[in-house]
Amino acid sequence: MAVQKYSKVEPEENVRVSVKINGRVYAETVEARMLLIDFIRDVAKLKGSKIGCDTTSCGACTVIVNGRSVKSCTMFAFEADGAEILTVEGLSADDKLHPLQEAFWNNHALQCGYCTAGMLMSAYYLLKKNPHPTEEEIRKGLAGNICRCTGYINIIKAVKEAASKGGSA
Ligand code: FES
Ligand code: FES
Repeated sequence: MAVQKYSKVEPEENVRVSVKINGRVYAETVEARMLLIDFIRDVAKLKGSKIGCDTTSCGACTVIVNGRSVKSCTMFAFEADGAEILTVEGLSADDKLHPLQEAFWNNHALQCGYCTAGMLMSAYYLLKKNPHPTEEEIRKGLAGNICRCTGYINIIKAVKEAASKGGSA
C-alpha cells in the first residue's frame, strides 16, 4: 500500500501530495481531508472514476493503488502520497481498448455507465489475481460494486469473455 509520510494531520491542514496516475505525476498541496477520489477527479482532472455514495458502498470510485484495488472514497489523498495509481483512463493503450473494455462493449455490459469504471477496475484486479475465474469467483470479485441499472448478468458475461481472451493483460 501507499507510503505514508504523515503520522498525524489535522483535517484542514495543508499537505503536499504527489502521486503517479497512469504513468504521470500529479503533485499538489491540498487539505488533509481531501479524499483520493477528489484528488483524482479535481486535481488530476480524470473524471472517469465516479462518486456514487462516498461511503464505501457502491464501488464506482474503484481504482488500483500500488497494485491493489481500492475504493478511492475510503482513502485520504495524503495516504496515497508516493503511490502509483491506475484509473480507468489508463486501461487502454495505443488507442486500443483493453480486452475488458472490449468485452463490456461486446456484451452490452453497461446501461447508464455510472458504475462502469469501477466495475472495470474491480474486474481488472480480479483477472490480475485470477486470470481464469469461475462464475462464482467473478460474482465474489465484483461483490463490492453496485450497478443501479442491475446489468449484472451481462457484466459477468463480459468478464468471462475478457478472461477467455487474456483480459488480465
Ligand atoms: S463512491 Fe466510493 S464506494 Fe461509492
Ligand atoms: S450501468 Fe448504470 S449503474 Fe451500472
